[in-house]
Order: sequence, then C-alpha cells, then structure tokens
Amino acid sequence: MIDWKLKETNYDENRIAYLGNKFLIGNGYMGVRGTLAEYEKEHLPAINLAGIYDRVGDGWREPLNAPNGFFTCIVVDGKILRLPEIPPKNHRIELDYRHGIFSRSTTWKTDRGSITVESERFVSMKNVHLGVMKYKVFADFHADVQVVYGIDADVWDINGPHYDSVEFVEDDVLGVVATTHEKHYKVAVSAGDKTNFPCEKKIGTKDKKVLKSINFVTDINASYEIDRYFSVYTSKDCGDCLYESVNDIDKSLLCGYEDAKEVHKETWEALWKDSEVVIEGDDCAMEALNYSLYHLHSIAPRHTDSLSIAARGLSGQTYKGAVFWDTEMFMLDFYSMTNPAVARSLVKYRIDSLEGAKEKAESYGYKGAFYPWESQEGGFDACSDYNVVDVFTKRPMRTFFKDKQVHISSAVVYGIRRYVDITGDKSILSEGGAVTIIECALFYYSLLLRRAGATAYEIHDVIGPDEYHERVNNNGYTNRMAKYTFEKALEILKNINDLSEGERNKINSLYDVNKLIEQFEDAAGNIFIPKPDRNGIIPQFDGYLKLEDTTIDVVKSRLLDPKEYWGGAYGVASQTQIIKQADVVTLISLFSNEIDSEIQKKNLNYYEPRTEHGSSLSACMYSLLYCKCGIPDKAYPFFMKSASADIAPGGKEWAGLVYIGGTHPAAAGGAYMVAIKGFGGLQFNGDEISINPKLPKGWKKLSYKIKYRNKIYQIDITEEKSEIKEIK
Ligand code: BGC
Repeated sequence: MIDWKLKETNYDENRIAYLGNKFLIGNGYMGVRGTLAEYEKEHLPAINLAGIYDRVGDGWREPLNAPNGFFTCIVVDGKILRLPEIPPKNHRIELDYRHGIFSRSTTWKTDRGSITVESERFVSMKNVHLGVMKYKVFADFHADVQVVYGIDADVWDINGPHYDSVEFVEDDVLGVVATTHEKHYKVAVSAGDKTNFPCEKKIGTKDKKVLKSINFVTDINASYEIDRYFSVYTSKDCGDCLYESVNDIDKSLLCGYEDAKEVHKETWEALWKDSEVVIEGDDCAMEALNYSLYHLHSIAPRHTDSLSIAARGLSGQTYKGAVFWDTEMFMLDFYSMTNPAVARSLVKYRIDSLEGAKEKAESYGYKGAFYPWESQEGGFDACSDYNVVDVFTKRPMRTFFKDKQVHISSAVVYGIRRYVDITGDKSILSEGGAVTIIECALFYYSLLLRRAGATAYEIHDVIGPDEYHERVNNNGYTNRMAKYTFEKALEILKNINDLSEGERNKINSLYDVNKLIEQFEDAAGNIFIPKPDRNGIIPQFDGYLKLEDTTIDVVKSRLLDPKEYWGGAYGVASQTQIIKQADVVTLISLFSNEIDSEIQKKNLNYYEPRTEHGSSLSACMYSLLYCKCGIPDKAYPFFMKSASADIAPGGKEWAGLVYIGGTHPAAAGGAYMVAIKGFGGLQFNGDEISINPKLPKGWKKLSYKIKYRNKIYQIDITEEKSEIKEIK
C-alpha cells in the first residue's frame, strides 16, 4: 500500500525548477509551485492563476502569477538564513498528495547552535482564493530571531513584468493591489497572521514587498508559531477584489489554522472517494497513477462553470498557459467519469469561445469554427507564427502549428460528444454545444478538396499530431476526425427535435438544415481515409512511406546542435519516417472497431520504433493500443512513462535560456485512460458498461469507481473474477 507522500531530503540547488513542479499544490484557481517560502523570483516561485492573462510588448501573452502571499524568511543573530545561499544541516520537503499539503523542515547550524524552520502549507480546496501556512521556529539555544513575512509583488515572469502599478496596504492585514499592463485587470492579495506568542509587529514596504517583521529570543526548544493566510481575488472574480480578499482573511483568522486544514482535507477526501484507483501488487504503479490524479484534481476548475486547463496545468507560464487538444483528447475522460461538473466546465469553455474560433476561420478564408491551437481567454489563439527559435541563426523560425493543426476543431467536437455520452447530460447541446459541432463541421467542409474527375474528398496542407512533418496532405488522423465531425453534426441535424426549442429555433434560423444534411452526408461518405498498403501499414499522410526509412539514433546523430528543432522545413526528422508522437496509432486507438486486429498490430510494430515520443502525449496512446491488441506487458512501460511524467526526473526543462518545464496533465489523464480502459478494459454500450480486463503481470487487483450517466459503479478486477457493482 502506498503512503501518499513524496519526500526529498538533502538540498540541491540544481533541482529547484524540477521540484517546483513535482511538489506543486493547487486548487484549480491557483497553483503554487513547490518552492521554498524564502525564494524570490530568480528561484522560480509562482502562484499561477487560472484563466487570466496579460501581454507586454511583443512577448507572448501568458497567465498571471499573483503576488506571493507565502513569502517568509528568517534572520538569526543578524544573519539571513535561507536557501540556497546558506547550506543547511538538514533539509526535507514533503508533499502529502492525498491532501495537497506541502511541508518543509530545514535546520541550519550557526556559531551558537542549531535552529530549525518547519512549515506546512496548502491552498484551500474549499475556498479556492485562500492560501494557508503554519510556520514554526525552534532552536537549541537562545537565538535572536527576526521573521520577515508578507506579500512579494516582484513576481517571476517569463514575458513580464505584467504589473504596471502596485499599491501596498500597510495595515494589520497586509495588502497588494496590482494592475496588469494590457487589460488593466486588478489582482488583489491580502495577508493576515496570528502568532502563538506575544510580539510586536513592524510593518513596512521594501523591494516591491509589503512586510511584517517580528523579533523574539527563543527559549531552548520552545516552538514559535505563525499561522499565515493569504487571499487572492482578481477583477475577473468580483467588483472589489481587495475588499473580498480582506474579508477572507478576517474569516480565516476567526476560524483558525486547524479548522481550515480540516475542511481542506475533507474536501480532498470527498474527491478521492470517487476517483482513487487501487492497484494491489504494484505500489509503484499505484503511486504514479494516483499522483497523476492528484495533479488533475489540483488544476480542475471546480470554482467556475466555464474554464479549461492549460497544457502545463497551473505550474507556471510555460506554453503560455494555453489550452490545447490535450484537454479534450487526454484529460476529459478522467473528469467525465469522476467529476462531471468539472468536465462540463471544460466543454463549456470551448462553446463559450466559439466566436474566437469563427473569427480565426474567417481570417484564413474558411467557414465555420477553426479553434485556436493554443487557446486563451475568449478563444484567442496565442500560438505565434514563429514558435521556435533557430539555434544556428538565433532567428525565429516560421512554424505552422497555428495555421495547419486543423485537427483541433475535431477535438472540440470529440470533447462535447464524449462528455454527453459519459455523463448523459444532453443539456449542453442546447447551450451552444449543437451549434459548436455544426460550426466545426462547416469548417472541415470548407477545407475539402476534390481532384478533377475524382469522387473522394481530400484535405491538404495540414499538420497531424506528429508535428515534425508540416504541411502534409491527407493526414489519416485529421481526415478521420473530420469525418467523425461530419458524422456528429449529422446526428445533431437529424435529431434536432431532441434539442431545446430555443436551440432548435436558432439552428433553423442560422442554417438550411436539409442542405447541411446533404452536404455533410456527402462529405462523411466520400472523404478519403488512407487504407493499409500491401504490408498492412496505414500511411500517416500522402507519401509518408516513401520518405527515408531510418532510425531515431541515425536522425539524432545528424543533429549539429542538441537543441536543434527536429521538425519544420529543414529539421532532421522532416525528410524521414521518424515522427514526434503517436499519430496513426492515435487514429487506430480511437477507431479500433473499424480496423482489423492484425492491421492494428502491424501498425503498432511499424510505428513504435519510428516514434521519438518527443511529446508526453505519446506514450499513453501506444499503451492503449497495446492493451487493445491484447499485449498488456508491452503496454506497461508506456503506461508507467505516462503516469510518471511528473514524478520522475528527465522531462525537458530548458530551451536555451527559456524555462519550458512544468507539469504534464495530458500524460496524467492518458495514464488514467490506460488504467481504466486499457488494462481495465472498460467499455460503454448505450446505458450499459462492461469490462474486458487485461491486467499486466503482478497486478493482483484493480479497483476504482466511475460515474456513468448519473450512476456510480464500483469495479473490482482480480485475476480470478471481475465485478461491476452499481452503488447508486
Ligand atoms: C505536442 C502537442 C501538445 C502540446 C501541449 C506539443 O509538444 O506536440 O501535441 O498539444 O505539446 O502539450
């Protein structure tokens, strides 16, 4: 059995960025990196806010980091004791990932004796605006101690600074109101505290920080405790954000640390009740998987009904805090089966950003909805035309992710359908979901091309999931997902009476329904879907199998610089069959019922050695298909890779001087899909669920609950028997 704790002893300055992600705590509204309370911006602390962005000059628009209300440091006998500057005698950090509680204990040896700082902190799962910390000091000598704590408004940014003006409140409840550059959003942070000993507090403002400082001389081994609370509100949340945050602090001071912690833990327990996955016989797998689910819970927008999740969660500003296809294709299953309200919010975010997607389509001369490759507020596409810097010339390289990764709109449709199918909540279709599906189908319809004299429709000049081959024709995944979109739009149009009267009227006024049915039937029936060649291999796109057939090692050996980009016009992989991530394999995984099982295996065997797995999204798709093909032991290492994306070191952290690290929620969601659908063999059939498990070696039992169409099921799988029990 696992103990739900991650621990790190010793201190290594080189691991600051990595541990910041691994020890992240969050509540969907904000994520707090697993950095230490004394860190200032050069050591990458961040209180990353969900769904609020700012842009300065020509830099990328990125999500805001709030002023840091956890900032605390200690001065002993006149000397500031903090990491990394002053090496510790002992140091330990711990994450209780059952309850999202981060703790640290650091002892320094001074000329007069040893002094220890212990702290414990969380961001409340109950009140998502609230951060809470207990900070303790004790020493084995009469130390002359000063603790300095408050709010640090000099935040770490990648493309900042984002706060044009910062006002400080020097009161018993400290405050910061910062105003953003672009949209003049306000971000207010208030902070209050209570000590378990009498002391005088001095208040002041220094280096963009509003601080309190207290002085005391320690009795030997007596514990000096400060309970600290901060609260963040932005002008997107309410009218007077400073007032709301002060209000929160007043309430928290009355309620106290232990009560706040209790409520927070109960909220976490309620989430685990419906989502914990028990794997008996393989603690490593159980730990990695549930730690992945911890991250998914920590970034779930439970506080709103329309918000999605960034590709790096709430771990910082990397990937511009933007929403990719990761949400719909990799994370949504988990939320739909464990927390349908969150899944609804994710889907609603896309429906609410339809206008942005329509504007994007129009700007390229297409019809319908072309969803952003990197979506921010209002469906703004944050993806730039120049997303990669050429290592040789140091010039920005033209990339085509934004223009050509057209499969994103089909992911939006997949998300809406998947949500409705799993939860049974059809109301979302009448809240804009139906129109969104139709608009996505119109988009693909406007992309169709037909060669003179041919009957098949083709889609040219796209980028599939494998981003290394740009501007290809007839990417199998894209074409099949376009067909899927036509099919789903047809279901809507043919069953228009299932929608609310309002939605029906809207559709009738916007479209000629009969004409659309005719067009989408023609499109769905005639779109070209690549077939296996005589060896059984489905070409990823036109001409793929004629490209140089080589190995990953050979391609790697051709790199002139280790940081060189493999794709694009001149990339080392571009003219070869080496691909970045699962592409045909994703297609087969999604549509396996249409493809002969021998062909599935042949394609797995063909594509696997040709896949670099350069994206954390890749491994789970391979794992799923290995499971479907009845080879769980081959699936297992890919599952572990996906489930361990954030627990194990080795992820990419830096691109030149730019920090690109962060957490990998798509891999986390992918690992869940493999456990439940792959190894667990979960299948939906109308209102029924069934299982056809294929457990990997060593797994004695797999148990979990799922929510499906308003019912909760307990599923227990052992080697001997499998049971599905309805528990509500
Ligand atoms: C992958 C995309 C993914 C994005 C965000 C890229 O490296 O190729 O498929 O959506 O990262 O996770």
